[in-house]
Amino acid sequence: MSDVHVSFNLANDHFNDQEMFLPPAPLLAGAHVSGINAYHELYRNSINNTDEFWKTVASELYFERISNKGLEWNFDHKTGPIFCKFMDGSLTNISYNCLERNIKRGLGGKIAYLWEGNEPSDTSTITYQELLDQVINFSAVLRAHGVKKGDVVAIYMPMITELAVAMLACTRIGAMHSVVFAGFSAESLSARVTDAKCRVILTSDGFYRGAKAINLKEIVDKAVQIASADGVDVTSVIMVEHAKRVTIPEGARPINVGKLSSIYSSYESEMSRLKGTDSPVEWMEAESPLFLLYTSGSTGKPKGIQHTTAGYMCYAYLTTKCTFDADLQNDVYWCTADCGWITGHSYLLYGPLLNGLTGVFFEGVPTHPSPSRIWEITDKHHVTKLYTSPTAARALMAFGDSYLQSTSRNSLRIIGTVGEPINPSAWMWLYENVGNKHCSVVDTYWQTETGGHMITPLPGATPMKPGSATLPFFGVAPVLLDSDGRVIEGPGEGNLCFSRAWPGMMRGVYGDESRFVKTYFAPFNGYYFTGDGARRDEDGYLWMTGRVDDLMNVSGHLLSTAEIESALVAHLKVAEAAVVAAPHDIKGSFPYAFVTLNHGEKLTKELVAELKVLVRHKIGALAVPDIIQEAPGLPKTRSGKVTRRILRKIAEGCDTGLGDTTTLIDENVIKQLISGRNSKG
Ligand code: PRX
Repeated sequence: MSDVHVSFNLANDHFNDQEMFLPPAPLLAGAHVSGINAYHELYRNSINNTDEFWKTVASELYFERISNKGLEWNFDHKTGPIFCKFMDGSLTNISYNCLERNIKRGLGGKIAYLWEGNEPSDTSTITYQELLDQVINFSAVLRAHGVKKGDVVAIYMPMITELAVAMLACTRIGAMHSVVFAGFSAESLSARVTDAKCRVILTSDGFYRGAKAINLKEIVDKAVQIASADGVDVTSVIMVEHAKRVTIPEGARPINVGKLSSIYSSYESEMSRLKGTDSPVEWMEAESPLFLLYTSGSTGKPKGIQHTTAGYMCYAYLTTKCTFDADLQNDVYWCTADCGWITGHSYLLYGPLLNGLTGVFFEGVPTHPSPSRIWEITDKHHVTKLYTSPTAARALMAFGDSYLQSTSRNSLRIIGTVGEPINPSAWMWLYENVGNKHCSVVDTYWQTETGGHMITPLPGATPMKPGSATLPFFGVAPVLLDSDGRVIEGPGEGNLCFSRAWPGMMRGVYGDESRFVKTYFAPFNGYYFTGDGARRDEDGYLWMTGRVDDLMNVSGHLLSTAEIESALVAHLKVAEAAVVAAPHDIKGSFPYAFVTLNHGEKLTKELVAELKVLVRHKIGALAVPDIIQEAPGLPKTRSGKVTRRILRKIAEGCDTGLGDTTTLIDENVIKQLISGRNSKG
């Protein structure tokens, strides 16, 4: 299984801008947005008659009270504070809209999720009615544990349906969930728990990922201890006994949670204790906080991105409906993302449920027990829409087509990707080999902060170009700015910004209003700045060119170079560290670390291993640098700033063309770094 048949070089993977792939005829015929002219007309309407446009969207959902307010915003700090509001004064509840509203229109018996466990033999289903019953039940449990409107509840769980129940139970009672990806370390979890002063953590005993056993309870114990030392006492940990009930993969050790301290209670016993207890919906102000989700920040400290109720709901609803051409009757929709990321929030949980779809909820990994797993599940459930990442596509493509051939994938209509640029050969592989040339492939560009899709093809409307996220979604106004903030009209490349608000945009950084303004609005006054670069071609299509700040994208996950650097310098032998992104054929890029050691120390194999463990403990496995190179010195300007541009080039393997090096204090450092890299082979 570890044989990799295909090798390709992302850097040379270009596509001719002129060539387009038209949406397949059957998709075009019945689509919500059918044909490019319909797209343009709706787009114009969304910009010119914004409030009317969104009012129509909101009318498809339930509001307990509707105000006459539309979308209001200010992005210009010279004229007043930066803000965005949507339907201010209205009352609604997203959990109600996902569940009761659908049940009232006859979907109670419909399957909400087909759960597929890590082992193919572990499966279950849950209907909309069953989901609602569990959500009411669990919201009563939360209330019994003292959780009330406005509180933040941390969720650190594997991909099990109780995670969906937990999120929906929080939003039912107006509590904000803060889901922490179950691959993050105890320190990362505690940092998030402490920042939002969470008193309650929802977790499970553990789970199996492929053949690996992950004991979540041990990690939670450590996180609770660290949080307590930092002044935040967690009073309840509610634990699902999941590892106990599943098949243990071959070769994995069983998960043993040991003794439970008094703050622990069992999910199952709490649910049966409070079964039948009434737990009414909390009607929420349109602009009241909905959830927090932490994302990497350039300074190293993760930012708690805050979304609000009505805007996020309408945006998740409409983007799912249009980008995946939601079909209430026939869809089996599968988003492979984990709920620990925004994709899991918007396109596994809220968007599909708001649209009344049946979704696949997958606990495992695409390569377990074989690289055919995704395609087997696709055939088994007749999946019509599949939403995944370019990294997953590249990884599966590298295993070779023999893993595809035992499956037909005939049910597929739309294949979506997200999280990072998709290279044209991976796009073509999805289009030709996976989708048998009868699917639209939608490369969706967006961010945790945007709540939903920003630049994306619509499957029955937009002619596709492999590698381009194409055109803006309704209501979205992309602008390219040069480094002086001048607008680039027509074809060109620049900093990707948005000149208008959209309902799903973030409303703040939790507990740090100034960071919200500083990060997103100060760089270019009057605009929301994404932190990404983009190119516009002759057809007006947008091509993402990557981050222009100190964040790096590894396998579709944003990491902060500063956060990895501070983990490395926490080692007593390390004096200084600089981390840059280097290109990787499967992951897109990987963290490449340069470390300067304290006098007399050597970068031995043991020290490299210790440093990797340190990063794993401080952040999580996904942030561990693939390469750690000793740097006798780092290239610095006279003002002491590390020139990452040069380090990036060195990590990419360049010996020449490093740009201007005359401003450095010591040009010799570069020669040493190049020879140090080459001697590593
Ligand atoms: O750099 C862009 C990249 O991922 C960043 C957002 O990461 P995150 O907030 O973790 O959300 C990921 C899931 C929405 C962006 O700033 N990115 C996301 N989608 C694409 C992309 N880059 C290129 N093409 C995309 N389709």
